[in-house]
Amino acid sequence: MQNPIIVALDVPTAEQALQLAEQLAPVVGAFKIGKELFTSAGPDIVRRIRATGGAVFLDLKFHDIPNTVARAVAAAVRLDVQMLTLHTSGGLAMMQAAEEAAQETASQSGRNAPLVLGVTVLTSLDSQALGEIGMEANVGHQVERLANLAVRAGLRGLVCSPLEVVGLRQFLPASMQLVTPGIRTGSEKADDQKRTLTPREAMDAGANWLVIGRPITAAENPRAAAERILASLP
Ligand code: C5P
Repeated sequence: MQNPIIVALDVPTAEQALQLAEQLAPVVGAFKIGKELFTSAGPDIVRRIRATGGAVFLDLKFHDIPNTVARAVAAAVRLDVQMLTLHTSGGLAMMQAAEEAAQETASQSGRNAPLVLGVTVLTSLDSQALGEIGMEANVGHQVERLANLAVRAGLRGLVCSPLEVVGLRQFLPASMQLVTPGIRTGSEKADDQKRTLTPREAMDAGANWLVIGRPITAAENPRAAAERILASLP
């Protein structure tokens, strides 16, 4: 089994990110670089994290016209990232262009194509917020609609809340990779996460990858915390 732990490097500086990556690379599956770290440290942080031996999940949630997103995806492939995100609400053509750019650029560079992951509905949006932007106000229906569109576009994975995993598994092709944040072990505080599952519960529900930030990065001994989580998995 692959190591499903993706550590969210939600820190502002390259030094802090590298310090975490160096101690954690042997015991986790990948590192998530998000908007804060990428904007402050630049693309070089991807190369430096790759140099620790860790895989990189570039979580920039692209959402733009198809050509622009395709070019950004191609740039990410050249940086050698293994996973990246885009907003499925960017539409079918945008997702198709992204997947195609991932495949083509990877084959030109002699690499495996990264997993292009679709984000459906941000968990910060409730039904009122969805209605305000003119979307289907039923969050579950909107998630299902966008997830199906992602499958039609040829995406091979989705980011979803842990509580969506079971429902999505009922209609998605089994090969679809599901990546879920909102993981808490029960021994730490929930922070701002409202609806969480334990790592084991999320895997049992059908997740393939777990995005875990503070339960590892804010632990007194991050490596021991990651090892404990790994040992708890089926
Ligand atoms: O520290 P924590 O484990 O809560 O970090 C979770 C990570 O997953 C953060 O990078 C956060 O932005 C991301 N995320 C999330 N909930 C979502 C989508 C992404 O917590 N619905």
